[in-house]
Amino acid sequence: MCGIVGYIGPGDSVPILLDGLKRLEYRGYDSAGLAVLNGTGRIELRRSTGKLANLEKVVSQEPLQGSTGIGHTRWATHGPPSEANAHPHRVGGLVLVHNGIIENHMELKKELLGEGRSFSSETDTEVLCHLIDRQSKRGLALPEAVRAALAEVRGTYAIGVMSESEPGLVVGARNGSPLIVGLGADASFLASDVPAVLPYTRDVIFLDDGEVAILSASGVEVTGLEGERRPKTSTRIDWNPVMAERGGYKHFMLKEIHEQPRSFSDTLLGRYSLERGEVEIEGFMLDEGAVGDIEQVVIVACGTSWHAGLIARYWIESLARLPVTVDIASEFRYRDPLVPPGTLFVSITQSGETADTLAAQREARRRGAKTVTICNVVGSTATREADAVIYTHAGPEIGVASTKAFTSQLAALFLLAVRLARGRGTLTNDAARCLLEDLIRIPLRMEEALARAGEIAALARRLAGARDFLYLGRGINFPVALEGALKLKEISYIHAEGYPAGELKHGPIALIDEQVPVVVLAPHDAVYEKVLSNLEEVRARGGRIIAVTDRADESVRARAEAVLDVPATHPLLTPILFALPLQLLAYYVSDLKGCDVDQPRNLAKSVTVE
Ligand code: G6P
Repeated sequence: MCGIVGYIGPGDSVPILLDGLKRLEYRGYDSAGLAVLNGTGRIELRRSTGKLANLEKVVSQEPLQGSTGIGHTRWATHGPPSEANAHPHRVGGLVLVHNGIIENHMELKKELLGEGRSFSSETDTEVLCHLIDRQSKRGLALPEAVRAALAEVRGTYAIGVMSESEPGLVVGARNGSPLIVGLGADASFLASDVPAVLPYTRDVIFLDDGEVAILSASGVEVTGLEGERRPKTSTRIDWNPVMAERGGYKHFMLKEIHEQPRSFSDTLLGRYSLERGEVEIEGFMLDEGAVGDIEQVVIVACGTSWHAGLIARYWIESLARLPVTVDIASEFRYRDPLVPPGTLFVSITQSGETADTLAAQREARRRGAKTVTICNVVGSTATREADAVIYTHAGPEIGVASTKAFTSQLAALFLLAVRLARGRGTLTNDAARCLLEDLIRIPLRMEEALARAGEIAALARRLAGARDFLYLGRGINFPVALEGALKLKEISYIHAEGYPAGELKHGPIALIDEQVPVVVLAPHDAVYEKVLSNLEEVRARGGRIIAVTDRADESVRARAEAVLDVPATHPLLTPILFALPLQLLAYYVSDLKGCDVDQPRNLAKSVTVE
């Protein structure tokens, strides 16, 4: 997830681009850059690593000026944050900014290198820049060259392109990553999101996938990928600037909850083959032989990431038939852990900077384990120090309470489980294909689950006054109960506990009375009947049952005060969908109580101290 801006008009583009990037900085902030067509017809670049302030410094030291330009703030996906990897990328007189992932960049790069082209970055983006340049050299005008190059790539993109040979144009295109066009009186704007253009215009065109926008100072033309004209109507935006930054959502957390179908797909993108029932993860450097040598898996993480690890244990054990232990990082590092030969150590960390997780990873390496990190931040410490990395590609998560990073971790971990199982021969090609088919349908099911947000908001109104909550789950959904309770306590400050439902009678049942909501996760899996008995135990003590289920039959309806429906999926994948209503419930309760949803008291997004 990155931020793109573009401007063409009568004014100086530099302050407009910098201001737009500032408003998009929430989309990524590891490096930034500008490309501006100057008065002599040449395109000049300024790029810098780190936050936007660094780029502003570079621009003030080496000023540039011009009425056409594009800019970018980066959230690295391929290649660490460095000046060479920062956008815009340039090939000859052509420059490009990109948000998304070019899936087939490796094969294309090989082809382009074979033609004698050279690369100055490790990004997937530079490949696209070369492809457009190659089409231009074949005599195509810029819009046609962009369309022809896009026909050669697979993956997701929002791009902005300009060229010294066609100074009056900025071309944008989108597929899977957001891009809007702003319509000014005598200027046109391109941006990843509305806030970037709001100071200049409130009239925007939302581009759809497969559309190309050709911007000039006098207006905008939108076409499809074949060049056919697409009539578009503009929308007048009446959000205030703060709302706009959150895409119209009241809080980043709510925006990120609703982004999950997209972020989940991004984690899966280009990493599986349905035909072969295989998982291929770039950067996961364990070959077949090394996978065969693994005798046990140790997963270590903190907070929500630890819950993802607890779920992954079920996947790896049942699919790859490997013993798995899951530990909290601060516990692992201090307990003289056993790391026998053949240990695969997996750290899970959104930020890649959590002090305890880093220390645990170092300890495991010191003891000879192969280390893999599941991480969201490219170039973070965990990724630099691990033997292998599986990036989650969820985009920056701003809300302190983790939501989309969690489900993306689950996507990555499920891929890892299938990869290990295939490597060890414990999963047939057909069985793997069926599981992967269910996995790639999850984003659609997520959309369905999120469409019920209104029901959950109404339920939150009935529950927001409670002082304590219990969350119960069994088997693979026990960690989801833990995660539901953590979400609620983190952001609403209500005491909440997650328990394995079978443990109810060994303690927590003493807490149940008519004041305590008990959220029970009841998918129709192998332990469904057992969960029904637990519902009975709660009901007999007058407890308020909130059942979350994938098929609300009579037995559930008769016992519960409220039922939250979740779309059905493969039993192993239920945790991914069951987490969503719990995120929404925590969100709405917190908001009703007037808490600071995105920055709850005493918590930090990334805990870099012990
Ligand atoms: C903090 C955050 C949590 C997060 C945990 C682990 O406590 O508030 O949301 O789950 O750290 O962070 P990591 O970046 O390692 O996943």
